[in-house]
Amino acid sequence: MNTPIIYEAYAPSNIAFLKYWGKADEDLQWPANDSLSMSLSQLGTKTTAQRISASDHEVEFNDQSISRDHDHGKKIYKHLDFLGARFKLTTKLGIKTSNSFPTGCGIASSASGLAALTIASLAAWFDAPSFHALEEHKFFKKDIADLSRMGSGSAGRSLWGGFVLWEKSTSALLQKISQSFNHTHWDLCDSVALFSKEAKKVSSTEGHRLAWTSPLFPPRQAIIHERLQSLIDAIKHREMNKLGPIIEQEALEMHAVMMSAETPVYYFGHETSQFLAWIRQIRNTNHLPVYFTLDAGSNVHLIYEKKYKTKLIPLLEERMGKDSVLHDEVGIGPTLKTV
Ligand code: PMV
Repeated sequence: MNTPIIYEAYAPSNIAFLKYWGKADEDLQWPANDSLSMSLSQLGTKTTAQRISASDHEVEFNDQSISRDHDHGKKIYKHLDFLGARFKLTTKLGIKTSNSFPTGCGIASSASGLAALTIASLAAWFDAPSFHALEEHKFFKKDIADLSRMGSGSAGRSLWGGFVLWEKSTSALLQKISQSFNHTHWDLCDSVALFSKEAKKVSSTEGHRLAWTSPLFPPRQAIIHERLQSLIDAIKHREMNKLGPIIEQEALEMHAVMMSAETPVYYFGHETSQFLAWIRQIRNTNHLPVYFTLDAGSNVHLIYEKKYKTKLIPLLEERMGKDSVLHDEVGIGPTLKTV
């Protein structure tokens, strides 16, 4: 018998500069608004897939076999079932997946995880050892992004490197994810200050629903298009003094929406708030153009140009401790190969 081919995908995590928060249609994964993110380099998920003769898929997460009802397993099996049903595939897959960052360190892994899972599974099912080979089966990056976002919305943006835009468009079927600028356009770094090592108590699925109940949600929707244009302009011209205030306002607004929802959600506490104030202080006193953004959690992403890295890192590590900071930068996007 031939040894089954193992397909290995790596997908980066991404950090949103303009946030996807709220769904216009949950079943079709249609966002309430456009979003734009930067794909990272080292922080991501590696997933291998191979066809197996078994009655169900077999999934390993960080070398541990996980079942359908395991916390980490649910989304993975659900997405494999979705892909199988969509393309009428009955062959089962053996999946092994691991994150490049320590599990439970508070970095959301669903974007990189669901993107890597989609790429590796399609590669195994269709015997496609490269993105080029996937294209021969009519899986262009935009199609793989659409399939990935069905597993986790933000995963669709992990299909490219650089800066990626997810446009809501006028209908769920017309929504579009594409790269706006590649990774060579602007050498931005992202250092993540870790404040929580636990999974968040309110899932993003629940958060997306609650967003609609906030009185701040309609005014947010009303200005988001204008904000996106300013953001694209700032990236296009590599203007940190324009990008920075937009990403800070955007992150704080998303959290204000959460905090003012009918059932309020507080994703960060006092320690994070003090840290945000500290960032603003070192920006002014040390003349360091570093700006923050946060996802649905308490960890803080610091965005800055690479030339400020040597000045920022010692200050940051002194404040946080070396083990509580992860350093990354804009990346090239996902990869696919056989192993
Ligand atoms: O992909 P989801 O459903 O986990 O939503 C992620 C939402 C944020 O990370 C908070 C923002 C974003 O645009 O990535």
